[in-house]
Amino acid sequence: MTTEIDDLFAAALEVQAKAHAPYSNFRVGAAVRTASGRIFAGCNVENAAYPQGSCAEAGAISAMVAAGENQIVAVLTVCDGEAIGTCCGGCRQRLREFAAGNTPIYAAGPDGVGAMFTLDELLPHSFGP
Ligand code: THU
Repeated sequence: MTTEIDDLFAAALEVQAKAHAPYSNFRVGAAVRTASGRIFAGCNVENAAYPQGSCAEAGAISAMVAAGENQIVAVLTVCDGEAIGTCCGGCRQRLREFAAGNTPIYAAGPDGVGAMFTLDELLPHSFGP
């Protein structure tokens, strides 16, 4: 049976493979589920002018907003390596714009989810809309 996390993981893994990360060689995929049940995904897109690169979470949020949605109920990111890779500080704030503090944020590696944090845990005492 496919669980809610399996769907998010599959979407994040698929988009991670498309990441444009020739400078860091660190590919990231992100998937967000909205209140309507739809999933939007994004990958990191780096640039030869390094600061112009964008994170996977930013891409997923852009796809969601472009589709007319604005309520995130779950997030999953996937990256390679042994360590648990959670969202960077900037992306925690980006997610805060569209997600409540109790929203689960799953951190996955190639083999699946390694940890789960709420947005409040990652971004305590946050500044929100
Ligand atoms: N990266 C993400 O896509 N999301 C994060 O939350 C952390 C970092 C990307 C940015 C850059 O392309 C690469 O990972 C290495 O920092």
